[in-house]
Amino acid sequence: MSDDNTKPTKKGSLIIVGSGIEAIRQFTLESREAVEQADKVLYHIPDEISGIWISKINPNSESLLDCYVQGKPRSDAYNEMTERTLRYVRQGLDVCVVYYGHPGVFVTPSHESIRRALAEGFRAKMLPGISAEDCLFANLGIDPSTCGCQSFEATYFLLHAPRFDTSSHLILWQIGTIGDTSYNPSRNLKPSVIVLADFLKKYYDPNHEVFLYEASQYVICEPVIQRLALSKLATAYITGISTLYIPPKLTESFDLGMANKLGLGSELKATNFHFSFKKLLHFTGK
Ligand SMILES: C[S@@+](CC[C@H](N)C(=O)[O-])C[C@H]1O[C@@H](n2cnc3c(N)ncnc32)[C@H](O)[C@@H]1O
Repeated sequence: MSDDNTKPTKKGSLIIVGSGIEAIRQFTLESREAVEQADKVLYHIPDEISGIWISKINPNSESLLDCYVQGKPRSDAYNEMTERTLRYVRQGLDVCVVYYGHPGVFVTPSHESIRRALAEGFRAKMLPGISAEDCLFANLGIDPSTCGCQSFEATYFLLHAPRFDTSSHLILWQIGTIGDTSYNPSRNLKPSVIVLADFLKKYYDPNHEVFLYEASQYVICEPVIQRLALSKLATAYITGISTLYIPPKLTESFDLGMANKLGLGSELKATNFHFSFKKLLHFTGK
């Protein structure tokens, strides 16, 4: 929801922006402007460099990272971030909150803060940012247009077993925190990754190649890309920022009847239309 459809009655506003994944360089110009112009800036970004940079361009800023404490329920941390944000807005300040990546992608308190601010009669909106998925498309050379792309939070994926299509790209987020409702970075991940791997083996061959992906957070670093058979997933090195990408199972089927209806039948036959793995994924590194 944007600020266009609200009738703000109160002084004070909220703008939520994303920092991108790579420190500083993936900040958009409009997000930088929002940080510069705010009365108060709050930020939740794991890398320290971005925090220092934000404090330089707007000294009236503070980190929200202290909302996370070992063992604290994530829902409490989200509430605290939302409450802290709203407290400043209610003081009549123009508040800018920066979350890493895209601020609306897998970020509960950003959406909740905007919802509450609007409900209380303040102006509130979100600006887009560069998400981990955007970086993944670029670094692995995947175009979601080739056969569709599904994206799920890993715990949700296991608990709800949503219908998904193995002939589409599949992206699973937060595989480093499966089943973890508390902030617990030192937890042993292995048991939950075994559960995930066993679940995926119902749909994919154990030799199906998968990718563990970490976008670079710093200009001097390369992305970390592990390419491995699904059967090796449970023994792989996984961190809190790992995202799992599963390429599609190849299929050559398409609806010839529909192609004919669209007037494409003879054209597709002539080009021997089929999906090829090389076309779908041009990443070649190890
Ligand atoms: C709470 S979500 C935040 C996502 C973020 N708002 C975004 O737009 O990318 C955290 C999850 O994002 C993914 N993620 C975060 N940083 C990443 C990185 N550097 N590389 C790959 N995936 C990352 C991982 O799946 C991680 O568990």
